[in-house]
Amino acid sequence: MTELIKKMNEALAWELRAMNMYAHYAANITGINRLQLSPMFNTEMTESIEHADIVRKGIVQLGGIPVTERDSHPIIHTTDYIEMLNYSLQTEIRASEVYSELLPLIEQTDDLYDSMEQIYLAELKSVEEMRLLVQ
Ligand SMILES: [Fe+2]
Ligand SMILES: [Fe+2]
Repeated sequence: MTELIKKMNEALAWELRAMNMYAHYAANITGINRLQLSPMFNTEMTESIEHADIVRKGIVQLGGIPVTERDSHPIIHTTDYIEMLNYSLQTEIRASEVYSELLPLIEQTDDLYDSMEQIYLAELKSVEEMRLLVQ
């Protein structure tokens, strides 16, 4: 249980970081790419808020205390959209890793398993989308 709560807090901290990073890039993207990438970064930001909410409530249900600080991995400021996409790809890869480490800690019959698996699949989808965008 403690290991599970710890891992869920790690996932929550990455979601809190992702919210900030995507909001930052949505605001800072300029030029013609702003038309498509600003809405995309905003969508990712909203998704991170939703994921954070699900994970946070799950931690409380398990009797844990959710973290309030984001993961300390730096959010790099840039105005270069390729760099933004590469940092986004790295973030999605890390998120998918954390959720893949989380799933084996949950009983597959548990409702929590389904909700965490859905988030994991959403992260994998984002990894593939970002991969296509950075090419
Ligand atoms: Fe997420
Ligand atoms: Fe994500």
